[in-house]
Amino acid sequence: MNVSAMSHGSLSENAISALNLGAQAGGFHHSTGERSVSPFHQSGGDLVYQVGTGYFGCRANDGNFDPEKFKITAAIPAVKMIELKLSQGAKPGHGGILPAAKNNSEIAAIRGVNPHTEVDSPAGHEAFNSPQGLLELIDSMRELSGGKPLGFKLCIGDKYEFEDICKAMILTERKPDFIAIDGAEGGTGAAPIVFSDYVGTPWKNALVFAVDTLKKYNLRKDIRVVTSGKIITGFDIFKAFCLGAYVCNSARGMMLALGCIQALECHKNKCPTGVATNNPSKVRGLVVEEKWKRVRNYQNETLKDFLALFSPAGCHELANLNRQLIYKQVDGKSVCFSDIYTQYREI
Ligand SMILES: Cc1cc2nc3c(=O)[nH]c(=O)nc-3n(C[C@H](O)[C@H](O)[C@H](O)COP(=O)(O)O)c2cc1C
Repeated sequence: MNVSAMSHGSLSENAISALNLGAQAGGFHHSTGERSVSPFHQSGGDLVYQVGTGYFGCRANDGNFDPEKFKITAAIPAVKMIELKLSQGAKPGHGGILPAAKNNSEIAAIRGVNPHTEVDSPAGHEAFNSPQGLLELIDSMRELSGGKPLGFKLCIGDKYEFEDICKAMILTERKPDFIAIDGAEGGTGAAPIVFSDYVGTPWKNALVFAVDTLKKYNLRKDIRVVTSGKIITGFDIFKAFCLGAYVCNSARGMMLALGCIQALECHKNKCPTGVATNNPSKVRGLVVEEKWKRVRNYQNETLKDFLALFSPAGCHELANLNRQLIYKQVDGKSVCFSDIYTQYREI
């Protein structure tokens, strides 16, 4: 269970530092979010450098992907993995804008853009426009990074697109090291409500579909499935593993550990707990030396809960977790996940 992508800017510098120190102390990893590696991400914890459509940290002047700049960011020692973001559950198919007024010299330097200019994160990628192109970019990023694990994150939309990517993997013999499946339930500091409420495939269906499609194309053994979508408790992790995930990420669980009280002020720069604001008078209320321990403890206690469920379920290794272990109420009846989500047999 790791810290899911949340950028510096959507979270305060103190929040990012506390997450990173917590990750270091607890031995889990911390995703930078799409706005690149900030100094606050470099407090000692392992990082996943996320590259979104704005290519922050590896952005050419025309807004496209710059391989040389990527090489420099990817070489930061704390960066252990790299994730290309196609979409996220809270706002699939929706980009973002950094207004000129917010683009001060500190933020511009972190993102690798010109200060005091408006900077777009388009809805889609400029660096490729086909499944083959995606896989070529992943291969070249892996090479440029000196062989760090490379994967992509998405919220499933059109199922045929995901199948097309799997087919392209077979055709080109190019594969990502991992695929991160984000449920439509995902959160963000800024998404149009119509996107958060209605767009994307819900977590369980998306995870099952991705795992089974990888099995169908005999790709599952080579690609780790990472997942996120309201994973908060030990049972959520148990359920995710039973459905076929290999790694879980949590964004809002980690925010709660930092002291988030769900004041719903993220987009107003007024977060009273100093978690999701850059207002200095609020940010200083988040005491890094205290909060990193909460992050470590939360992750640690959640894993203990997961392990407490693991042996009573008759499991000795992660491979024993399967869909027969989980039941769900459907129309007042208890139905087993293996009957709801029938799976492809691995070839
Ligand atoms: C404040 C905030 C900022 C986020 N920023 C990013 C981001 O930069 N890139 C990304 O892929 N996902 C981002 N996400 C989505 C999360 O990484 C995660 O995929 C999603 O919220 C589901 O996890 P959760 O239910 O544990 O929050 C953000 C979420 C939150 C709450």
